Amino acid sequence: MLQSGSELPPRTVVHSQSEMTELILPNDTNVLGNLLGGRLMNFIDLVGAMAAYRHARSHVVTASMEHIDFIAPVHVGDLLILKSSINRAFHTSMEVGVKVWVENTIAGIHRHVASAYLTFVAIDPQGRRVPVPPLETEADEEKRRYDDAGRRREIREAEARRRRIPKFDPATPIKT
Ligand SMILES: CC(C)(COP(=O)(O)OP(=O)(O)OC[C@H]1O[C@@H](n2cnc3c(N)ncnc32)[C@H](O)[C@@H]1OP(=O)(O)O)[C@@H](O)C(=O)NCCC(=O)NCCS
Repeated sequence: MLQSGSELPPRTVVHSQSEMTELILPNDTNVLGNLLGGRLMNFIDLVGAMAAYRHARSHVVTASMEHIDFIAPVHVGDLLILKSSINRAFHTSMEVGVKVWVENTIAGIHRHVASAYLTFVAIDPQGRRVPVPPLETEADEEKRRYDDAGRRREIREAEARRRRIPKFDPATPIKT
């Protein structure tokens, strides 16, 4: 039986904050030496999952990745710095915010290059959804992100209803 996440002790945003640093190598880039968008999405997914793991303390799967803004190109040799934290915990899902910077150590430049919001769902080892602890916000910025995440969820749900996105059912046979 799915218990309510609100019965679990709350966790703060600091608890989930995660950081990852990657040196961009030629294998990560296109012929012009710019980081591939898909590779950046992979890094965003990983650092987002770290925050979700830390908050939920369970396995998580990516349910959606949205609102990705690629603000500026990233070049081979740049240091990519990615930071993530929980914006809001719902029942079994959590919205995670990811912000990405580059540091060009030779030019001494530090620039914001991308931002994204992802939703992760907590699951047990059998793949069943499990509730996540509520998020306790402290700083004003954390409260703003919490409210914004609620608005994004309302918009997402309205859009899913409009597009009639099918619910995942592992028992449904695959049509070819
Ligand atoms: C994500 C997944 C677990 C949702 O399962 P489901 O049975 O459709 O679940 P429901 O529709 O009942 O929603 C469960 C929760 O997920 C959230 N959710 C489901 N689809 C979502 C989406 N597209 N975006 C954001 N949240 C979503 C719901 O809001 C709900 O949150 P809540 O429990 O906090 O209220 C399921 O679709 C899945 O396993 N997808 C594949 C995940 C995966 O493999 N990811 C890696 C990428 S290949």
